[in-house]
Amino acid sequence: MSVTAFRGGDQPAVSPAQAKVTTQSLQQKKLRRRPITALTAYDYATARLVDEAGADIILVGDSLAMVVMGYDSTLPVTMEEMLHHTRAVRRAVKRAMVVADMPYGSYQVSEDAGVANAVRFLKEAGAEAVKIEGGAQRVELVRRLSLAEIPVVAHLGLTPQSVHKMGGYKVQGKSLEAISRLTAEAQALQSAGAFAVVLEGIPREVASRISAALSIPTIGIGAGAECDGQILVLHDLLNLTFAAPAKFVRRYGDAAELIRNAVRSYCQDVEERRFPSDDESYHLPKETLAALVEPEGGLRRKA
Ligand code: KIV
Repeated sequence: MSVTAFRGGDQPAVSPAQAKVTTQSLQQKKLRRRPITALTAYDYATARLVDEAGADIILVGDSLAMVVMGYDSTLPVTMEEMLHHTRAVRRAVKRAMVVADMPYGSYQVSEDAGVANAVRFLKEAGAEAVKIEGGAQRVELVRRLSLAEIPVVAHLGLTPQSVHKMGGYKVQGKSLEAISRLTAEAQALQSAGAFAVVLEGIPREVASRISAALSIPTIGIGAGAECDGQILVLHDLLNLTFAAPAKFVRRYGDAAELIRNAVRSYCQDVEERRFPSDDESYHLPKETLAALVEPEGGLRRKA
């Protein structure tokens, strides 16, 4: 990098709305009480649209196991599949921070494995940060990732990779004991070096207390309005999940209806020979056409 580029000397001025999102700019948002916007995306086209529309963070979530691959939990998705989708998202995104979700099994076995797999997301797929689920049991891994220069988003509360241990997808942090444990875990993850914490499926009042207790941003999903930011699964927001939405989901569009209608119209047009039209067809040059005779069955060369 040249000294000028380092100082930003010859770079065009960009408004904060266009500037690249970094861990520092997210921290600034918390300080200025400006909500952080985050969404999942898993492929080039949707990541590009989400980035152009202005989301701060794009999470390549392991939710792709369910909403893209059709599994009934997030557990089966593999490192190679997550890397593949993260690369596609990386190619699309200019402004947002790309966070890769570490899949189940890629960090639970050992901290060494966790660091090695996280490095792959940055080195082979262009992620700028990784997300891992869990509380006290992840503090050492967060510390190790920070030492390896890997920005980490922690994830507390309803952690889908622990579905079997939790006995289903249930709201967490409802007892006094659970509230103080969650708060202490959030603080420990912050001290270990996490730059943000996703709070999922916990009561609004609890998320509000944790958000106030932390200096790093909290990003809520099913955790109420007082978090420093919000995240949703893109397919939930667009009605692409084929299931009744959870209480915390707001549908901002109906992509299912849009796609169904478009495909239905296409099929009808093909069946009724309205597609393709002459304008949607390629044509021979006049001279070549003139050199051909056209009997009933189609084009034939003149004898
Ligand atoms: O995988 C995912 O989409 C997530 C979000 C729900 C936070 O972890």
